Amino acid sequence: MSPAPASTLTPSASTQASGAPALGFTTLEQESVIDELPISGELPPWLQGSLLRTGPARFEAGPGRLRHWFDGLAMLHRFTIAGGRVSYGGRYLESRSYRAVRERDRIAYGEFATDPCRSIFSRVQSMFHPGAAVTDNANVNVTRLGERFVAMTETPMPVQFDPHTLDTVGVRPFETPGHLTTAHPHLDRGDGGMLNYAAKLGPRSSYRFFRVAPDSGTPELIGSLPVREPAYMHSFGLTERYLVLAEFPFVVNPLALALARRPYIENYRWKPERGTRFTLVDRTSGEVLGGLRGEACFAFHHVNAFEDDGEVVVDLCAYPDPGIVEDLYLERLRAGKPLARAELVRFRLDPGSGSVARERLAEEDLELPRINYGRCNERPYRYTWGLSCGESGFLERIVKIDIEQRTTVSFADPGLYPGEPVFVARPGAETEDDGVLLSLTLDAEAASSMLIVLDAASLKELARASLPFHVPFGFHGQFDRSFSG
Ligand SMILES: [Fe+2]
Repeated sequence: MSPAPASTLTPSASTQASGAPALGFTTLEQESVIDELPISGELPPWLQGSLLRTGPARFEAGPGRLRHWFDGLAMLHRFTIAGGRVSYGGRYLESRSYRAVRERDRIAYGEFATDPCRSIFSRVQSMFHPGAAVTDNANVNVTRLGERFVAMTETPMPVQFDPHTLDTVGVRPFETPGHLTTAHPHLDRGDGGMLNYAAKLGPRSSYRFFRVAPDSGTPELIGSLPVREPAYMHSFGLTERYLVLAEFPFVVNPLALALARRPYIENYRWKPERGTRFTLVDRTSGEVLGGLRGEACFAFHHVNAFEDDGEVVVDLCAYPDPGIVEDLYLERLRAGKPLARAELVRFRLDPGSGSVARERLAEEDLELPRINYGRCNERPYRYTWGLSCGESGFLERIVKIDIEQRTTVSFADPGLYPGEPVFVARPGAETEDDGVLLSLTLDAEAASSMLIVLDAASLKELARASLPFHVPFGFHGQFDRSFSG
């Protein structure tokens, strides 16, 4: 089915393929606490809580340069909203990777695409002793596990922090049963714990699916799946019954990863002839359903998944190949090179027949997708919000895609580069899109950032709270209602 044409209800920026402003990839030195940000517009009186985000903020260390957007040293950001006011806190995550840079002025741990030239011995050692020399630069996402707030990257090294002060807590919040994992755990609605997978590498590699209870630091294994060459997977899907793994054919030989003299991600190889392999893992029994193969693609982000009359629906932001990984090297981004664009794609899996059907759901490109998670994750849903490149070469529009009606609404303002739009539901909301979006946005001309608040249904701007400096482009954050003071 071809998607219906988009309807753009708000004026969009004059568009040109100018790519990203380099300021978004420029180090922010200062850590700050600001009690009250200047606000234009009006915040909804019901909006109380804190937006917590992590993202790369420093890109150099002595003579060393980090090479990739995913490599930048993590800074935590907190926007606390209460009584119509917004306060801000920004602090570097005191990871050991960051401490090595600050104290020794050098890059000491291998990042996603930057390697400090460790010896082969230390590579092998780190492979068989998780944590030995692995980065804990948790710049991808934050989550809450019980009363603990955790910053994460894709190594088994989550970092706990205090959400008020943004102090790093020197305790590992939980163990990860493997060497590689995702910074996109899902919420276990049953007990408020988290679900995730980890790839354990070695002579016999496997994917391990696990759950961590809210008050626990010990993972409970749900199931596992042997794998010869693990795929790079940044996230996974969840239905009421299954964990959904989409293995894109961007894979690594574990031994090569241990021995190679190149940065982590540069050891992965694109093998499109393998297609995309879907695996369903029963959340209760751990039973693995495989044999589901679709056409080759690459994605960072699952949008949502659910069961529908015996079939499993899996929505992704899909690229034709992993070229986007190349696009996100800092040199290319700072030079304004355009990004590959992700399509919102629906895979419909039939575990009975083994069939996999693919359908594009929207004309717009979509990245950093969000949904009304509390209401719709694991379940049929209608809306997703995210970022789109539009006609420019970089993410510059916030879009709301109505999957049911196949229509799109967008928000753009010339010179503004919005970050991931985090959906916050209005208390007592009856409809899926009743709430606001919070987006940490860069104003390239003013050389400063702001928190923009949009009505999630119409994408009309409600308010903006301005910072006196820029915040480098980041990835993910979460809104937490539990503290607003
Ligand atoms: Fe992500």
